[in-house]
Amino acid sequence: MTIIDQPTTDTAAAPGVKPGRRLSVAPMMDWTDRHCRVFHRHISRHTWLYTEMVTTGALVYGDVERHLRFNEEEHPVALQLGGSDPTDLATSARLGEKWGYDEINLNCGCPSERVQKGAFGACLMAEPQLVADCVKAMRDAVSIDVTVKHRIGIDQTESYDFVRDFVGTVADAGCKTFIVHARNAILKGLSPKENREVPPLKYDFAYRLKREFPDFEIIINGGIKTEAEIDEHLRHIDGVMLGREAYHNPFVMATFDQRYYGDADAVVKSREQVIEAMIPYIRAQLALGEKGLKLNSITRHMLGLMTGLPGARQFRQVLSDSKKLAAGDANLLLEAAARLRTTA
Ligand SMILES: Cc1cc2nc3c(=O)[nH]c(=O)nc-3n(C[C@H](O)[C@H](O)[C@H](O)COP(=O)(O)O)c2cc1C
Repeated sequence: MTIIDQPTTDTAAAPGVKPGRRLSVAPMMDWTDRHCRVFHRHISRHTWLYTEMVTTGALVYGDVERHLRFNEEEHPVALQLGGSDPTDLATSARLGEKWGYDEINLNCGCPSERVQKGAFGACLMAEPQLVADCVKAMRDAVSIDVTVKHRIGIDQTESYDFVRDFVGTVADAGCKTFIVHARNAILKGLSPKENREVPPLKYDFAYRLKREFPDFEIIINGGIKTEAEIDEHLRHIDGVMLGREAYHNPFVMATFDQRYYGDADAVVKSREQVIEAMIPYIRAQLALGEKGLKLNSITRHMLGLMTGLPGARQFRQVLSDSKKLAAGDANLLLEAAARLRTTA
């Protein structure tokens, strides 16, 4: 595989900017588990992947292996942590590095009430010095990158200065990579889902951060779907993170290796080849006999593979048939794909 080490965009790479994070798939609870990440990896070799948020409580007091194990082929993969206690975050970050993650990311963007009760997520944006202390503790504990994912404001804050001061304070602790979900988080009155749709997107705030802190790596997130949109953002900032679009229409990533990583040798697999690559993985996982792991635990992440093609609905229908799924045969994917061909 040949990686052409040149930015494919107008943004000159600042020191500390990792070309690897030019494109990434967002951390998404319940969605970007290790099976989903393996599936995404079969579509794009280079796109940077994130885990679901893992709380420090789950790592300090819980089953570390259950939360941290992942498959070698997922690299590069970042562990997202949720927490606000510097000591626990340092312990968790150390575990993440030990398990082989490529980056530790701190969640300062989740607005859910459950997360607020634990005093972390988006409400941390009101306490930039605490976030800086957390970042410092994690950086002291690990040698991999420590990054922060955050919003542009909380509740009714409208001023750019709020996010600029947040980034400035956290950067003083050594964080140089900021993933900006470019809308406010409303901490009371909106559900997490509404918080991803209702507050307006202000991409310009992220662009301004890049202008003001040119040496930092600024990655933009929120509502981005098409290559044209990605290209436009990359004229202003260092990287683009896709969430829901990557999940619901994962084949959007099929061209990323060539287009955004300059990997001239990258082979764009067909959707059928992605399915063929997943079948041995699924069989091997099911053969492990892990408690609770079913065919659907893996195939549910693949429902969007045919998005945009005639027959995509039939593909999803076959993969959602509980009787067929109960048989636990990975060949169900081939049956679903065949349905697509007869529909097309
Ligand atoms: C189902 C779901 C779960 C999410 N879980 C997390 C999470 O664990 N950590 C996080 O930082 N953001 C989480 N998010 C927010 C996404 O990372 C992303 O910031 C948001 O969806 C906006 O990007 P998009 O418009 O490209 O989807 C979640 C989003 C969704 C849809």
